[in-house]
Amino acid sequence: MTRYPLWQSIFFLVALFVAQAADAALDNASAQAMMQKSGCAACHAIDKKVVGPAYQDVAAKYKGDKDALAKLSDKVKKGGVGVWGEVPMPPNVQVSDADIKDLVGWILTLKK
Ligand code: HEC
Repeated sequence: MTRYPLWQSIFFLVALFVAQAADAALDNASAQAMMQKSGCAACHAIDKKVVGPAYQDVAAKYKGDKDALAKLSDKVKKGGVGVWGEVPMPPNVQVSDADIKDLVGWILTLKK
């Protein structure tokens, strides 16, 4: 088995810490990576309508709505239709509740 020098272990721990800190407050880069990973990017973009509404439009629509985070997280999980048109969003069951909440929380902060 390979023995790793101490500095390498330290580097690894720091990298792990940075990754977790980034997850706690989702910045644009990690949010967009998560969008890709979770499949949202196939139907959504930040500033234009694709299959689903632009995330900036979603943020504007729910501005000041205190229930938006819970309501939209639930909708992303289960899917739904009728708010933005006739095209349904399918359920996103492959994405964890925590990731959905992080994503929706980030979406709601977006501005034009
Ligand atoms: C297959 C396409 C598709 C995928 C994949 C998809 N969406 Fe959607 N999304 C839609 C459509 C279409 C709507 C509009 C639904 C409606 O009109 O009620 C929508 C609506 C939304 C809304 C607004 C809901 C509302 O009621 O106002 C949010 C927030 C959202 N999507 C987030 C996500 C996130 C986060 C993901 C990834 C985990 C995701 N979507 C994946 C197509 C998709």
